[in-house]
Amino acid sequence: MKKRVLSGIQPSGKLHIGNYLGAIKQHLAAQEMEGWSRFYFIANYHAMTTSPDRDDLREKSLDVARTYLTLGLDPEKATLFLQSDVPEVCELAWVLSCLAPMGMLQRATSYKDKVARGLTANHGLFAYPVLQAADIIVYDSHLVPVGADQKQHLEMSRDLAIKFNQTYGEDILVVPEPWIKEEVAVVPGIDGQKMSKSYKNTIDLFGTKKQLKKQVMAIVTDSKSLEDVKDPDTCNVVTLYKLFADKQEVAEMEANYRAGNYGYGHAKKALLEKLETFLEPHRDQYQYYLAHEDEVIDVLRAGGRTARAKAQEVMARVRDVVGLI
Ligand code: ADP
Ligand code: TRP
Repeated sequence: MKKRVLSGIQPSGKLHIGNYLGAIKQHLAAQEMEGWSRFYFIANYHAMTTSPDRDDLREKSLDVARTYLTLGLDPEKATLFLQSDVPEVCELAWVLSCLAPMGMLQRATSYKDKVARGLTANHGLFAYPVLQAADIIVYDSHLVPVGADQKQHLEMSRDLAIKFNQTYGEDILVVPEPWIKEEVAVVPGIDGQKMSKSYKNTIDLFGTKKQLKKQVMAIVTDSKSLEDVKDPDTCNVVTLYKLFADKQEVAEMEANYRAGNYGYGHAKKALLEKLETFLEPHRDQYQYYLAHEDEVIDVLRAGGRTARAKAQEVMARVRDVVGLI
């Protein structure tokens, strides 16, 4: 049996360069791993825990698919699907819920953070980590590439798989391993905080050229004038530039900062050019998927069928050992 890499992407807003560097890039790189199969799904059930709007959920789900296909997800190499095309995941979530201690869920930091930010908690939000565990376990997944913020969710998934096996029999479920690249830097947003949809400080992957320019020009810097000598080590523009430029180009920008007579406007223009070079070749493809929604949905449906077949196999095993006739 081939081992499986699996990850889920929440459709909670336009994807940005932080998502690309922190997650999408790794997912696409894993396409080249020999001897592994890959499942990537759009976590639309999860998104419902915080956003109940129908059109919004639909559009954002499709946008994740468009973005992945545009950036090079190859349906021959990786199965891309909607979480909701595999209802078995909800069934397994129920089975795992009955093994999940209340205390474990009450300790979930992402739940506590959301409540602390003023979100009114619903049962779905509280049960989020159990559904996530089911997402992983229902496909016999071995390796789960995620950002460092998902560490605790992955621990809970492991704990639930282990507890299930202790209760119902060794080796019935695969115990998943997190795959967290610690060296992947947190990409700063235009205000210097972590780039995040929820902070409205993003540089989006597939906005228009005009929007991209607006976002880059809005990067916060100090108020030094053109002539002043500047510190490249504390400037957001340089941090972002480093993510797209080569070593020599970075060295040049740093030297310009230290020499003076080089304004933040110049640096932003250089960054904008780099981002354009990266994004421009993909824009037409993105527009193509925007205009061909049916094709995107076909990819998702085909992926859903492949994923569901696997989930049904695992659920048959689960139903049998827990005594569901
Ligand atoms: P957001 O914070 O915008 O809501 P998500 O939490 O949905 O983003 O993150 C989706 C994926 O992108 C996760 O794997 C996360 O680790 C990665 N990611 C998000 N923001 C960043 C960032 N600023 N730098 C690096 N990776 C990021
Ligand atoms: N909670 C993850 C996030 O916010 C998304 C997710 C849902 C996920 N189910 C998953 C990630 C299963 C990996 C595996 O980024």
